[in-house]
Amino acid sequence: MSVSSSGKPVSNRAKFATNLGVLAATLGSAVGLGNIWKFPYLTGSNGGAAFLLVYIVCMLLIGIPVMISELTLGREARSNAIATMQKLAPAKQPWWLIGAAGVLAAFLIMAFYSEVAAWVFAYILKAVQGAILSTDPTVTKAAFNDLVANPGLSLLWQWIDLAIVGFIIYLGVNKGIEGVTKKLMPVLLFLLILVGIRSITLPGAGQGLSFLFQPDFSKLTAAGFLIAMGLAFFKLSVGMGTMITYGSYFRDDQDIPATATRVAFSDLAVSLLAGIAIFPAVFAFGYEPNAGPSLLFLTIPSVFASMPVGSVFMVIFFILTFIASIGAQISLVEVPVALLEEKFHLSRPKATIFTMLGIALVGSLAALSNSSLAGVHVFGMSFFDLFDYVTSNLLLPLGGLFIAIFISWIWGYKKLTAALSNNGRLANQLVIKVLYGILLVVTPVLVTIVLLNGLKIIQ
Ligand code: TRP
Repeated sequence: MSVSSSGKPVSNRAKFATNLGVLAATLGSAVGLGNIWKFPYLTGSNGGAAFLLVYIVCMLLIGIPVMISELTLGREARSNAIATMQKLAPAKQPWWLIGAAGVLAAFLIMAFYSEVAAWVFAYILKAVQGAILSTDPTVTKAAFNDLVANPGLSLLWQWIDLAIVGFIIYLGVNKGIEGVTKKLMPVLLFLLILVGIRSITLPGAGQGLSFLFQPDFSKLTAAGFLIAMGLAFFKLSVGMGTMITYGSYFRDDQDIPATATRVAFSDLAVSLLAGIAIFPAVFAFGYEPNAGPSLLFLTIPSVFASMPVGSVFMVIFFILTFIASIGAQISLVEVPVALLEEKFHLSRPKATIFTMLGIALVGSLAALSNSSLAGVHVFGMSFFDLFDYVTSNLLLPLGGLFIAIFISWIWGYKKLTAALSNNGRLANQLVIKVLYGILLVVTPVLVTIVLLNGLKIIQ
């Protein structure tokens, strides 16, 4: 038995063992394909530096406050996302719907995320064979198209990815999550820096750097604002209960605001490193910054092709990117698994298998989006794009909006202060006051405006 910050005894739910473990696991959820694959391609498609600035504002005023809220609620209730809201909300108010929407979002994100992880996995093998190592856009584009146009391979690699993720989940919280993520982050960072250095020393690299760092505000659109906000939710893993679940494993003496802020800035740093690795190469080799989801898979092989022992480094790069994606996927899958375990009393192996089968089923729609189902469009989007759009630009912002409203308006200042100061043990009164103000007004208003405007409901 241990005691929560409100003094209530709680069950002996597993907990992260050390503070470093907490930071590493939370960061392991945040850092993933969102940083290495999604951030560069969205920044490329939405005008570069100006988009990056909007992203940073969303991170500060929406992402970090919602992350702190989720971690706090999770630690307070020590439960899965739905039960957390049930325990903390006033009777008869349906706040648990946030948790239910989160389970849906976890499925839909995993459906396309596991396919991108599958591409990364396939690229490990392609890198070993050496066929993609080229600075010629026609070669790298053909390699990517061959992969995504092949339905058998698209499914096979996705299911292998899901089997790996399922196995790690099945091993459990401490051993599984903490162990995998802690060790590999620094190595990935080192490799990103290496690629970045090569990229900025390419002839013509300057153009890529100014694309990333010199804002041209005329390129911003209402849709761009929504995409930047969606990216902030996605990259920080907030808006659907992942961080509630992670918070439920936090220790009572953990400084939540400090942890969340560190995670967000480290996550930003990794994204910027990915951008610095990719954009100089875009301009040096004649790619289009708005190439879309293929951007990473075209440019990175070209950078490695122009580097000594590049073929070896490229293999390592894709292995580490795959591992980073696993940390993020574990955190997504943990949401439905924890729910099935606690609410429906399934054993962990059973909960894991059911969840992974469900994801494989829905995920197949995303996996086949560029092959067998290439002609199928819903609301003008392929299944892959639809799952991506609906989660980042609708479900996560709505989840975040209601979490911010819940913690500030319903749960209230007194409980928030007690929880965030660890019952007065931390001297962070000012931080809490500012945060409370942001959660009470700024986050809800901003999310609402960006949502309505981006979805063209108001113009
Ligand atoms: N943040 C992860 C990434 O950048 C993806 C992710 C993990 C996620 N858990 C999440 C996104 C929960 C939204 C919600 O790759």
